[in-house]
Amino acid sequence: MSVKIAPSILAADFANLQREVEMLNASDADYIHVDIMDGVFVPNISFGFPVTEAINRHAQKPLDVHLMIINPDKYLEEFKKAGAEIISVHFEACVHLHRTLQHIKSLGCKAGVAINPHTPIEHLENILEEVDLVCLMSVNPGFGGQKFIPNTFSKIKRLSKMIADKGLNTLIEVDGGVNQSNAPLLVEAGANVLVAGNFVFSSDNPITTIKNLKNIQ
Ligand code: DX5
Ligand code: ZN
Repeated sequence: MSVKIAPSILAADFANLQREVEMLNASDADYIHVDIMDGVFVPNISFGFPVTEAINRHAQKPLDVHLMIINPDKYLEEFKKAGAEIISVHFEACVHLHRTLQHIKSLGCKAGVAINPHTPIEHLENILEEVDLVCLMSVNPGFGGQKFIPNTFSKIKRLSKMIADKGLNTLIEVDGGVNQSNAPLLVEAGANVLVAGNFVFSSDNPITTIKNLKNIQ
């Protein structure tokens, strides 16, 4: 299975969202990664339902919604309505993670869990069976354009082994600071989905950049 690419719309030109989404439609991107920040769980505010809906109105690729918010349960229906196909909540923001994942799945979405750089992968041991995708943060969430944290490699390897030992097919997504130099190593370590924001949108030719990321082996 080739690696899936999820460009993060956070790095797009917000004044030209339709054009940016149409560019992604024409590219080899597999998902559109949508970063929702509440200014409480993370020290930044991005955008919410109306913008997500507007993206979805033009998108021909599934929306991979990354909720960097406290109390995500309160807003799951709204994000489903806004077009989310995958909804990832943060491990650190969920007191009853099992219930939250069941809730996401009851809406017909795939359920993801995002974990911060400092959170050990082993904390997922008793919940992995319920998870469709683990979003491993390779930067501290809150901003695009940050530097990749190398400790992520050992987390991917340990998670990959945990998934194989349990006979699951949970996807491993890596989010933050992904570029053409670390991408092959991430895939080799076991990553299945690469999120890329700035690397894609600040490149001269985002379509080619996405293609090159997708074709690494
Ligand atoms: C960080 C976000 C990331 C970010 C990735 O809080 O979750 O998805 O947009 O952007 P880059 O690839 O620029 O690090
Ligand atoms: Zn993200």
